[in-house]
Amino acid sequence: MTCAKIILFGEHSAVYGKPAIAVPVKSLQCNIKVSSSKKNRIKTSFDICEPENKSLMDVLQIILKELNQKKSFSIEIDSNIPIAAGFGSSASISVEMIRAISTKVNLHMSTEKISSIAYECEKTFHGTPSGIDNTVITYEKPVFFIKNKKIEFIKLTKPITFLIALTGIKKQSTKEIVLDVRKKYNSDNENMAKYFNEMENIAIFAKSAIEKGDIEKIGDLMNQNQSYLSKISVSSPEIDRLIDIALATGAYGAKLSGAGRGGNIIVAGKQKDYGTIKKNLLKQGAQSVFMETII
Ligand code: PMV
Repeated sequence: MTCAKIILFGEHSAVYGKPAIAVPVKSLQCNIKVSSSKKNRIKTSFDICEPENKSLMDVLQIILKELNQKKSFSIEIDSNIPIAAGFGSSASISVEMIRAISTKVNLHMSTEKISSIAYECEKTFHGTPSGIDNTVITYEKPVFFIKNKKIEFIKLTKPITFLIALTGIKKQSTKEIVLDVRKKYNSDNENMAKYFNEMENIAIFAKSAIEKGDIEKIGDLMNQNQSYLSKISVSSPEIDRLIDIALATGAYGAKLSGAGRGGNIIVAGKQKDYGTIKKNLLKQGAQSVFMETII
């Protein structure tokens, strides 16, 4: 079984070498069964169409090559991780596929190696991934992530509970959104560089707030991060509307998570308020809302 993830701070700026914070979401899981087969086949428990179907086949080819396997396999993917919703479903499938195939052929793989193969797979979905998704999903621990730097794990002194709401809007592909941000970065470099620097400061403050379990501060920093995500144009009217509802119902903070323009939002508040916030978000059109505790 392999988990999903959410990015708490620093999506997009992570692509530009700034720090980002991601945590595993263990209530969403992907499970893969592998059996020998005459030709490579992939079956999924969820609806999938092109181009994702082709991408999954490409991912399988990358993994077989990396594991030096000439045989063919039948792959059955069972996952409750929403697709294109900012939960890292593609990284989770890649990691689980590497784990399942290597187990099937009795190959021991280090966690580091699994993550690095999953990073190669991520390129088929995301073009130029920072590597945050495969890292947090393989290690299943909160990470303070900087592209191409040694992984730093965050140690929490107490569990932190967030509320996660799905907008129900399937976001554009991460690849397209990241490319759009790149165009904006090239055409408006001065402002974009300023925004990414601000996001870096926010992520650094957030690390210590998370270590202390200071949910009020985390919420405040999430609001600040969201204002820059809006400025780089990865928010959307639906995301903004759900965030406003969460804040109006007493949350300390809320922001989009992942590539944006749909997908999920995360909410930080007092746990006793989460019931009411959830009710209001659902009333106002959120597709589903659940609590996730990070340890
Ligand atoms: O694909 P998502 O929604 O999990 O977002 C990935 C996070 C980005 O920062 C937008 C891209 C990256 O590779 O870090």
